Amino acid sequence: MEGLTIQNPAGLVIPACLKGGGLILPFRGKHPLIGKRVFLAPQSSVIGEVALGDDVSIWFGVVIRGDIACIEVGRGSNIQDNTVLHVGDEDPCLVGEDVVVGHGAVLHGCRIQDRCTIGMGAVVLNGALIEEEAVVGAGALIPPRMVVPPRALALGQPARIVRELSAEELEQYAVFAPKYVRVAEAYRQSDVFPDM
Ligand SMILES: CC(C)(COP(=O)(O)OP(=O)(O)OC[C@H]1O[C@@H](n2cnc3c(N)ncnc32)[C@H](O)[C@@H]1OP(=O)(O)O)[C@@H](O)C(=O)NCCC(=O)NCCS
Repeated sequence: MEGLTIQNPAGLVIPACLKGGGLILPFRGKHPLIGKRVFLAPQSSVIGEVALGDDVSIWFGVVIRGDIACIEVGRGSNIQDNTVLHVGDEDPCLVGEDVVVGHGAVLHGCRIQDRCTIGMGAVVLNGALIEEEAVVGAGALIPPRMVVPPRALALGQPARIVRELSAEELEQYAVFAPKYVRVAEAYRQSDVFPDM
């Protein structure tokens, strides 16, 4: 993924609990690669061939399972509580930079480009492509191989492109990724996680 900066921990012993208490597990010789200032909340799990960029936050109960193909989450993105990222045999799961993924979403073998917002409870299936700054509404179902164009709003089950987002809306959405970086930093700095 372009622009992804990863601090490669190869050769390090990865503790089970790191940077917030999330579980990091190698699988079949592949270790998750964790960038700088990553926050992994308790009960989150990151498994196998996974790369998390700098300033990524992975919230409570998230599962990121890179066991069949790889998963990447780009710099500054947040994956909110109880979301699942998994892959298809031929479909990695590639999330760009400054992406917001709402609570309880499922991203399966799909690509999400920079600065997208994926609504709470949305499901994005294999081979789907969500292009830059697009918004997938809460609860939407994005079918396999669907392409959501840049700066479009997709809603419904199955999802349809309902309209383009206005410049004002794009500005409003752009606030959330940096806000999550700040919230995650506050967790990292708090004394809730004394081992950090
Ligand atoms: C879709 C969304 C962006 C609102 O867009 P909007 O254009 O302002 O929508 P409005 O509230 O004006 O509603 C327009 C229509 O879409 C419907 N609608 C709103 N959200 C919808 C959704 N998620 N799925 C399907 N229909 C939706 C409304 O009921 C309304 O229908 P109507 O025209 O028949 O009355 C918002 O509802 C949403 O889903 N946001 C996602 C927030 C989120 O999960 N963020 C993640 C970080 S926490």
